[in-house]
Amino acid sequence: MQRFDAVVVGAGAAGLFCAGQAGQRGLKVLLIDHAAKLGEKIRISGGGRCNFTNREAGPANFLSENAAFCRSALARYTPQDFIKLVQRHGIAFHEKHKGQLFCDDSSEQIIRMLQDECQAGGVTRWQPCSVADVRPRAGGGFELDTSHGPVQARHVVVATGGLPVPKIGASDWGLRLAEKFGHAIVTPRPALVPLTFDADAWAPFAALAGLSLPVEVSCGSGKVRGRFLEDLLFTHRGLSGPAILQISSYRTADDQPLHIDLAPEIRLDEELLAAKATSRRQLGNEFAARLPQRLAATWLARAGLDAARPLPECRDADLQRLGRSVHDWQLTASGDEGWRKAEVMRGGVSTRDLSSQTMESRRVPGLYFIGEVVDVTGWLGGYNFQWAWSSAAACAQAL
Ligand code: FDA
Repeated sequence: MQRFDAVVVGAGAAGLFCAGQAGQRGLKVLLIDHAAKLGEKIRISGGGRCNFTNREAGPANFLSENAAFCRSALARYTPQDFIKLVQRHGIAFHEKHKGQLFCDDSSEQIIRMLQDECQAGGVTRWQPCSVADVRPRAGGGFELDTSHGPVQARHVVVATGGLPVPKIGASDWGLRLAEKFGHAIVTPRPALVPLTFDADAWAPFAALAGLSLPVEVSCGSGKVRGRFLEDLLFTHRGLSGPAILQISSYRTADDQPLHIDLAPEIRLDEELLAAKATSRRQLGNEFAARLPQRLAATWLARAGLDAARPLPECRDADLQRLGRSVHDWQLTASGDEGWRKAEVMRGGVSTRDLSSQTMESRRVPGLYFIGEVVDVTGWLGGYNFQWAWSSAAACAQAL
């Protein structure tokens, strides 16, 4: 029987980082992953360049049943701390958009950095290796049945991530283990995911697939209300792009409408009325000067207005109605593209019975949950990795 101070299950972002930090504190650490390849989600992240953190990451950028839970860990291990680590490893990076930091070369560099950190901590890694059972021992600590044989450990850290992209190793193992030990699970839902619409309802817009434009999108009510100014992308089945991925996390019910302002920089109703006084152009041309052409044509057809009519002959009420409809397009998605396309999981192990200081279970001392398996979900833009690093650091300090 091999004995370790800590066994970390899941060698993704949170597990690799936690194992390395704990090892460097002098603990004997075993890191286990059932996938054949290391850090696949890191590899595919950020289009292959890993958006590894966001300079601005703070509690306001995360969703959870308990909004305050992430505060302590994020404050104690900050984006700046991770940036310093990346710099120490000589990885060149750049800021792309709204504080998002990406590797100049490849996400492989982040995987190599985490591997080097584990090596510096003398971490043992078993991969591929699966864990059939985790049992608390009478005198404290745990016994684990793994495909490499039984092991004992004082601490078990669950870092098995969320459910998105099952084909590269995602599993519900961490959620099932949490349930087995009496933890509540906040219903997992795909988040940061493209939205789909009924084929009939979407038919007028399907031809717009590929069109992208900046919009303001909002959804939800009360404390769970999101509002984002980002790009939207029309697809054959619905909507995608950063604006939609962001707002998808705020859909708490399938019948919740989205509100989309397709021209957030201007007031189209006022501009069309003002133009009527001075311009003899056709409505279609005037409208298309303010919106992408394909969208303008679709929108006019949908409003039942004649694009060829000269502006002075248009009724004020029609121009107002047309303009306003662009600023508040209300639509209800019928679903989303699911775990195959989602970037993260909303929900997970409820924070109710976890310590926000250490990520330790209040039900089973010595058991910890870190990273995406916990009910803390970040926005698009490096926030989810920052949660992985911060929660892992909080845990590693406590082991
Ligand atoms: P992660 O998924 O990284 O690791 C979990 C590990 O546990 C995996 O290695 C898995 O094989 C293993 N595992 C699962 N079940 C197991 C079991 N039963 N036994 C043993 N091992 C098991 N975020 C961000 O901040 N910036 C970005 O650029 C992106 N980009 C991005 C792109 C795409 C396509 C996706 C799908 C996701 C992102 N993300 C992201 C999200 C980010 O990848 C994610 O939030 C973190 O990887 C979560 O880190 P974890 O360590 O919690 O899980």
